[in-house]
Amino acid sequence: MLAESYETERLTLAILRQRNVNQIADLVKKNIAHLSPWMPWAHPDVVAETDYEELVRIWDAKLESGTDHHYGIFLSASSELIGAMGVHQRVGPNALEIGYWIDQDSEANGYVTEAAAKITEECLKLVPKVVIKHEAENVKSRRIPEKLGYVEVGAGTCHDGRDSVDWVKERAERAPTS
Ligand SMILES: CC(C)(COP(=O)(O)OP(=O)(O)OC[C@H]1O[C@@H](n2cnc3c(N)ncnc32)[C@H](O)[C@@H]1OP(=O)(O)O)[C@@H](O)C(=O)NCCC(=O)NCCS
Repeated sequence: MLAESYETERLTLAILRQRNVNQIADLVKKNIAHLSPWMPWAHPDVVAETDYEELVRIWDAKLESGTDHHYGIFLSASSELIGAMGVHQRVGPNALEIGYWIDQDSEANGYVTEAAAKITEECLKLVPKVVIKHEAENVKSRRIPEKLGYVEVGAGTCHDGRDSVDWVKERAERAPTS
Protein backbone atom coordinates (compact mmCIF):
# COMPACT_ATOMS: atom_id res chain seq x y z
CA MET A 1 0.00 0.00 0.00
CA LEU A 2 1.27 3.48 -0.84
CA ALA A 3 1.48 6.00 2.01
CA GLU A 4 -0.57 9.16 2.62
CA SER A 5 2.56 11.27 2.10
CA TYR A 6 6.25 11.13 1.26
CA GLU A 7 9.10 13.58 1.74
CA THR A 8 11.92 14.15 -0.74
CA GLU A 9 14.80 16.61 -0.58
CA ARG A 10 12.65 19.64 -1.53
CA LEU A 11 9.12 18.26 -1.85
CA THR A 12 6.22 16.83 0.07
CA LEU A 13 4.03 14.43 -1.90
CA ALA A 14 0.66 14.16 -0.17
CA ILE A 15 -2.68 12.67 -1.20
CA LEU A 16 -4.95 15.49 -2.42
CA ARG A 17 -7.96 15.93 -0.14
CA GLN A 18 -11.04 18.17 0.12
CA ARG A 19 -8.91 20.80 1.94
CA ASN A 20 -6.88 21.18 -1.27
CA VAL A 21 -9.82 21.73 -3.64
CA ASN A 22 -9.35 25.49 -4.07
CA GLN A 23 -5.59 25.13 -4.57
CA ILE A 24 -6.09 22.43 -7.23
CA ALA A 25 -8.78 24.39 -9.09
CA ASP A 26 -6.71 27.60 -9.03
CA LEU A 27 -3.55 25.82 -10.22
CA VAL A 28 -5.32 24.05 -13.08
CA LYS A 29 -7.09 27.26 -14.21
CA LYS A 30 -3.78 29.16 -14.12
CA ASN A 31 -2.14 26.44 -16.26
CA ILE A 32 -4.79 25.69 -18.91
CA ALA A 33 -2.61 26.82 -21.83
CA HIS A 34 0.40 24.93 -20.43
CA LEU A 35 -1.44 21.66 -19.71
CA SER A 36 -4.17 21.38 -22.34
CA PRO A 37 -1.86 20.29 -25.21
CA TRP A 38 -0.97 17.17 -23.19
CA MET A 39 -3.82 16.56 -20.76
CA PRO A 40 -7.36 16.32 -22.21
CA TRP A 41 -8.88 17.09 -18.75
CA ALA A 42 -7.22 20.52 -18.92
CA HIS A 43 -9.12 21.61 -22.04
CA PRO A 44 -10.82 24.97 -21.25
CA ASP A 45 -14.34 23.57 -21.83
CA VAL A 46 -13.65 20.60 -19.53
CA VAL A 47 -12.12 22.78 -16.82
CA ALA A 48 -15.11 25.15 -16.95
CA GLU A 49 -17.44 22.21 -16.28
CA THR A 50 -15.34 20.46 -13.62
CA ASP A 51 -16.66 20.42 -10.05
CA TYR A 52 -13.38 19.98 -8.15
CA GLU A 53 -15.10 19.00 -4.87
CA GLU A 54 -16.85 16.19 -6.74
CA LEU A 55 -13.60 15.28 -8.51
CA VAL A 56 -11.80 14.87 -5.16
CA ARG A 57 -14.73 12.73 -3.92
CA ILE A 58 -14.22 10.49 -6.97
CA TRP A 59 -10.47 10.36 -6.20
CA ASP A 60 -11.29 9.44 -2.57
CA ALA A 61 -13.41 6.51 -3.78
CA LYS A 62 -10.67 5.35 -6.17
CA LEU A 63 -8.15 5.62 -3.33
CA GLU A 64 -10.41 3.48 -1.13
CA SER A 65 -10.69 0.84 -3.84
CA GLY A 66 -6.93 1.04 -4.40
CA THR A 67 -7.13 1.82 -8.13
CA ASP A 68 -5.70 5.36 -8.12
CA HIS A 69 -3.62 7.62 -5.89
CA HIS A 70 -3.55 11.35 -6.61
CA TYR A 71 -0.64 13.06 -4.86
CA GLY A 72 -0.15 16.81 -4.71
CA ILE A 73 3.42 17.97 -5.23
CA PHE A 74 4.06 20.61 -2.53
CA LEU A 75 7.19 22.66 -1.93
CA SER A 76 8.23 21.54 1.56
CA ALA A 77 9.62 24.98 2.46
CA SER A 78 6.39 26.90 1.75
CA SER A 79 3.69 24.18 1.54
CA GLU A 80 2.73 25.65 -1.86
CA LEU A 81 0.98 23.21 -4.23
CA ILE A 82 2.96 23.21 -7.50
CA GLY A 83 1.73 20.10 -9.32
CA ALA A 84 0.35 16.60 -9.08
CA MET A 85 1.34 13.00 -9.62
CA GLY A 86 -1.09 10.14 -10.20
CA VAL A 87 -0.42 6.46 -9.57
CA HIS A 88 -2.82 4.28 -11.53
CA GLN A 89 -3.66 0.60 -11.52
CA ARG A 90 -4.59 0.38 -15.21
CA VAL A 91 -1.65 -1.37 -16.87
CA GLY A 92 -2.23 -4.91 -15.66
CA PRO A 93 -2.06 -6.63 -12.29
CA ASN A 94 1.74 -6.52 -11.87
CA ALA A 95 2.41 -2.90 -12.73
CA LEU A 96 1.49 0.67 -11.83
CA GLU A 97 1.45 3.68 -14.17
CA ILE A 98 2.50 7.12 -13.03
CA GLY A 99 1.48 10.44 -14.57
CA TYR A 100 2.43 14.02 -13.67
CA TRP A 101 2.17 17.72 -14.31
CA ILE A 102 3.59 20.86 -12.77
CA ASP A 103 2.86 24.58 -12.67
CA GLN A 104 4.56 26.29 -15.61
CA ASP A 105 6.29 28.71 -13.21
CA SER A 106 7.96 25.77 -11.43
CA GLU A 107 9.17 23.91 -14.54
CA ALA A 108 12.77 22.96 -15.24
CA ASN A 109 13.83 22.77 -11.59
CA GLY A 110 13.91 18.98 -11.55
CA TYR A 111 10.83 18.84 -9.31
CA VAL A 112 8.88 16.24 -11.29
CA THR A 113 11.99 14.11 -11.72
CA GLU A 114 12.52 14.28 -7.94
CA ALA A 115 8.89 13.37 -7.24
CA ALA A 116 8.80 10.59 -9.84
CA ALA A 117 12.02 9.10 -8.45
CA LYS A 118 10.41 8.75 -5.02
CA ILE A 119 7.08 7.44 -6.29
CA THR A 120 8.83 4.97 -8.61
CA GLU A 121 10.92 3.68 -5.69
CA GLU A 122 7.81 3.25 -3.52
CA CYS A 123 5.78 1.58 -6.30
CA LEU A 124 8.57 -0.92 -6.95
CA LYS A 125 8.20 -2.11 -3.35
CA LEU A 126 4.64 -3.13 -4.27
CA VAL A 127 4.79 -4.26 -7.90
CA PRO A 128 7.64 -5.49 -10.12
CA LYS A 129 7.13 -2.84 -12.82
CA VAL A 130 6.30 0.87 -13.17
CA VAL A 131 5.16 2.39 -16.46
CA ILE A 132 5.32 5.97 -17.78
CA LYS A 133 3.51 6.92 -21.01
CA HIS A 134 3.86 10.18 -22.90
CA GLU A 135 3.02 11.49 -26.33
CA ALA A 136 5.91 11.31 -28.81
CA GLU A 137 6.05 15.11 -29.14
CA ASN A 138 6.24 15.65 -25.38
CA VAL A 139 10.01 15.95 -25.14
CA LYS A 140 9.95 17.46 -21.64
CA SER A 141 7.95 14.53 -20.28
CA ARG A 142 10.23 12.06 -22.07
CA ARG A 143 13.23 13.32 -20.07
CA ILE A 144 11.69 12.12 -16.80
CA PRO A 145 11.73 8.34 -17.44
CA GLU A 146 14.97 8.76 -19.37
CA LYS A 147 16.71 10.43 -16.40
CA LEU A 148 15.28 7.86 -13.95
CA GLY A 149 16.64 4.83 -15.78
CA TYR A 150 13.37 3.62 -17.28
CA VAL A 151 13.68 1.59 -20.50
CA GLU A 152 11.79 2.69 -23.62
CA VAL A 153 9.64 -0.24 -24.75
CA GLY A 154 8.00 1.28 -27.82
CA ALA A 155 4.65 2.54 -28.98
CA GLY A 156 1.54 2.08 -26.88
CA THR A 157 -1.80 3.63 -26.07
CA CYS A 158 -2.77 5.91 -23.20
CA HIS A 159 -5.79 4.94 -21.08
CA ASP A 160 -7.83 7.51 -23.03
CA GLY A 161 -6.82 6.17 -26.45
CA ARG A 162 -4.07 8.64 -27.41
CA ASP A 163 -0.90 7.15 -28.93
CA SER A 164 1.97 6.96 -26.48
CA VAL A 165 5.64 6.17 -26.12
CA ASP A 166 5.95 3.70 -23.25
CA TRP A 167 8.72 3.35 -20.68
CA VAL A 168 9.14 0.69 -18.03
CA LYS A 169 11.23 0.46 -14.90
CA GLU A 170 11.52 -2.98 -13.36
CA ARG A 171 12.42 -3.90 -9.83
CA ALA A 172 16.10 -4.78 -9.59
CA GLU A 173 16.46 -8.48 -8.84
CA ARG A 174 18.44 -9.23 -5.69
CA ALA A 175 21.60 -11.19 -6.29
CA PRO A 176 21.02 -14.79 -5.17
CA THR A 177 22.57 -15.55 -1.78
CA SER A 178 24.56 -18.71 -1.45
C1 LIG B 1 6.69 17.44 -18.36
C2 LIG B 1 6.72 18.17 -17.03
C3 LIG B 1 5.89 17.40 -16.03
C4 LIG B 1 8.20 18.25 -16.56
O1 LIG B 1 8.22 18.76 -15.22
P1 LIG B 1 9.54 19.48 -14.63
O2 LIG B 1 9.39 19.63 -13.17
O3 LIG B 1 9.85 20.67 -15.44
O4 LIG B 1 10.62 18.35 -14.89
P2 LIG B 1 12.18 18.50 -14.85
O5 LIG B 1 12.57 19.81 -14.23
O6 LIG B 1 12.72 17.26 -14.28
O7 LIG B 1 12.54 18.64 -16.38
C5 LIG B 1 12.36 17.60 -17.31
C6 LIG B 1 13.03 18.06 -18.61
O8 LIG B 1 12.21 19.03 -19.25
C7 LIG B 1 12.97 20.20 -19.52
N1 LIG B 1 12.11 21.36 -19.36
C8 LIG B 1 11.20 21.57 -18.38
N2 LIG B 1 10.61 22.75 -18.59
C9 LIG B 1 11.18 23.29 -19.69
C10 LIG B 1 10.98 24.49 -20.41
N3 LIG B 1 10.06 25.37 -20.01
N4 LIG B 1 11.70 24.70 -21.53
C11 LIG B 1 12.61 23.79 -21.94
N5 LIG B 1 12.85 22.62 -21.31
C12 LIG B 1 12.14 22.39 -20.19
C13 LIG B 1 14.06 20.19 -18.46
O9 LIG B 1 15.16 20.98 -18.87
C14 LIG B 1 14.39 18.72 -18.37
O10 LIG B 1 15.24 18.29 -19.39
P3 LIG B 1 16.84 18.10 -19.12
O11 LIG B 1 16.94 17.10 -18.03
O12 LIG B 1 17.34 17.64 -20.42
O13 LIG B 1 17.36 19.45 -18.70
C15 LIG B 1 6.20 19.61 -17.17
O14 LIG B 1 6.85 20.22 -18.24
C16 LIG B 1 4.69 19.68 -17.39
O15 LIG B 1 3.91 19.75 -16.44
N6 LIG B 1 4.28 19.70 -18.66
C17 LIG B 1 2.85 19.81 -19.01
C18 LIG B 1 2.06 18.60 -18.60
C19 LIG B 1 2.67 17.33 -19.15
O16 LIG B 1 3.16 17.30 -20.27
N7 LIG B 1 2.62 16.26 -18.34
C20 LIG B 1 3.14 14.97 -18.75
C21 LIG B 1 2.16 14.24 -19.59
S1 LIG B 1 2.85 12.68 -20.13
